[in-house]
Amino acid sequence: LSADEAAIVKSSWDQVKHNEVDILAAVFAAYPDIQAKFPQFAGKDLASIKDTAAFATHATRIVSFFTEVISLSGNQANLSAVYALVSKLGVDHKARGISAAQFGEFRTALVSYLQAHVSWGDNVAAAWNHALDNTYAVALKSL
Ligand code: HEM
Repeated sequence: LSADEAAIVKSSWDQVKHNEVDILAAVFAAYPDIQAKFPQFAGKDLASIKDTAAFATHATRIVSFFTEVISLSGNQANLSAVYALVSKLGVDHKARGISAAQFGEFRTALVSYLQAHVSWGDNVAAAWNHALDNTYAVALKSL
C-alpha cells in the first residue's frame, strides 16, 4: 500500500473503528451464514444477541484486528509483521471451517458499511480495494 493509500484507509477507519458492535451486526444481518459459524451466536435472533457482552467482545476482537493491521500499513518496515498476522488469520479461520466465499461476503458487508458511514469517494474506494486485495491475497492462501 502506498503511504497515500494507507493514510486514506486510516482516516476513514478512524471514523468507524469504535462502532465495533454496529459493524459486526451489519455483517451478520447481511450474511446470516457468517453468524451461523459462531458457536455462541448460531441460530439466535440478531436483535437478541446484539446488545450482549459476548457480542461486544467478539466484535471488538474482529474490529481490533483491522485496527492493528491498518496501523502497521503503509510502512515497508512492517510488511512482514502484517504478513504474519494476516496469514495466521487465514490459518485460524480455516481451522473453523470458514470458506474463501464467506471471507468474500465479509468483505462485501464491510465495504458497504464503510460506504454508508465514512466520507466516501473514488479515491477512498480505490484505497480500500487495494488494502483488501492485499489482505485477502494472503489470508485466502490458507482457506
Ligand atoms: C474469530 C477476525 C472473517 C468466523 C475471530 C477473531 C478475529 C477474527 C480477530 C478472534 C481471534 C481468533 O479467535 O482467531 C476476522 C477478520 C475477518 C474474519 C479480520 C475478515 C477479514 C470471518 C468470517 C467468519 C468468521 C467470514 C465466518 C464465516 C469467526 C469465528 C471465530 C472468529 C467462528 C471464533 C469465535 C469464537 O471464539 O467463538 N475472527 N474474522 N470470521 N471468526 Fe473471524
